[in-house]
Amino acid sequence: MKDLILNNAKIFTEGEIKEGGIAIDKGKIIKIGKDPNLPPASKTIECNGNLILPGIIDVHVHLRDLDLSYKEDFLTGTRAALAGGITTVLDMPNTKPRTDNPDIFKLKLKKAANKIVCNVGFYSAIPENFQDILKITKLGAIGFKIYPDHPYSNFDFSNDDQLSSLFKLLQNTQLPVTIHAEKRDTNKLIKTYKEANYPDIEAFLKAHNANSEIDTVQRCINFIKDNGIKLHFAHISTAESIKRIIEAKKKGLNFSLEVTPHHLILDSNLLQTKKSFSKMVPPLRKKSDCNALWDGINSGFVDVIATDHAPHSLDEKKSTFLEAPSGIPGLETLLPLMLTYINNKRITLKRFVELCSENPAKLFNIKQKGRIFPNFDADLVVVDLKKKYKINSANFFSKAHHSPFDGFEVQGIPIMTFLNGKLVMDHREVLAKEGMGSIIKPQN
Ligand code: DOR
Ligand code: ZN
Repeated sequence: MKDLILNNAKIFTEGEIKEGGIAIDKGKIIKIGKDPNLPPASKTIECNGNLILPGIIDVHVHLRDLDLSYKEDFLTGTRAALAGGITTVLDMPNTKPRTDNPDIFKLKLKKAANKIVCNVGFYSAIPENFQDILKITKLGAIGFKIYPDHPYSNFDFSNDDQLSSLFKLLQNTQLPVTIHAEKRDTNKLIKTYKEANYPDIEAFLKAHNANSEIDTVQRCINFIKDNGIKLHFAHISTAESIKRIIEAKKKGLNFSLEVTPHHLILDSNLLQTKKSFSKMVPPLRKKSDCNALWDGINSGFVDVIATDHAPHSLDEKKSTFLEAPSGIPGLETLLPLMLTYINNKRITLKRFVELCSENPAKLFNIKQKGRIFPNFDADLVVVDLKKKYKINSANFFSKAHHSPFDGFEVQGIPIMTFLNGKLVMDHREVLAKEGMGSIIKPQN
């Protein structure tokens, strides 16, 4: 007797939709086939003809916790993930205290173990003491994140010698290195533009201008040449930087490229109406930039769609535009938005699964996840592609009850999420028990 059958479904497997069901045993997918051909199981869940996709792997999530747990914590953030059909998240290191040394890394692992309800991999920031890179790697970091815009300690991204010695150490780890492509001193620049009487939104957009991203991308392209690092560009937002990254990829450089749903769908005009609720870094750009990101998706050069789920409290977001922190929640809007664009034929289902499940697993060495295939982990999401409704952040499981997508008409909703073959979200109810998620470490 097997543990579970999901029957009467459409299943996205091996690049196409098959009708039938999935047999699951001991947390693994064991068979995909027509319902009568599946082995007997102690439990059957009827899928009513809905579509089963591999659980989403979101490689860019700020779960916060520690001293910023008023914004989000390991439990609320991972519940929000399951509600959104996301079964694995990679957590960013700009926490308070910063995740950039072995002690804080260990503290996060310990605290997360009893709280997380989906799978979580942990990033590290660049440690003040570069020698800690190896120690943090041994503790199971999923990757390292570089923030050139937020300099700390003595590390200066624009200094060739420092960058060279950093990249040498990072190369030894064989882990992906993710870069937030922006230049430093944006806060100083905002002040300068304010002094020159620019309105708040203009000052913010000028400080975080397109060239800040493009120049940082170009520095990586010039610098990396063939030093063997797997460099992942987070939240790329401009037409010119995507063009340069694509050219570099064509020349064989080991780059991967991530875009967010908000940079695909929204443009900077929205800042005038949604104000700080549409404030994030990098900021929303021009419609022509959005179109270039879509082209990058459909031409096959974008590798990943990730949310950059960056929760802040409603009170913080309600302060003045320049005081309000940058960042929006994304875990509970990714799938509804992308299913809408699948319905509208802006992106194929195949491409969506590559970008949100298959490629993230490959790029971050997460084995046995990201595909519906025998022996893979039964991390799955069942979606109803027909359901139409409006996004309402008041219903989010995240602590961040706001979204620039509030009121958006969408078509498509996750109705069940499975983690290791267990039903953890059922029709908007999160059933997972605290600590059910696993900590993901890279498997080479
Ligand atoms: O908008 C953003 N918010 N961009 C970042 O890079 C950081 C993030 C945050 O942590 O709030
Ligand atoms: Zn981020």
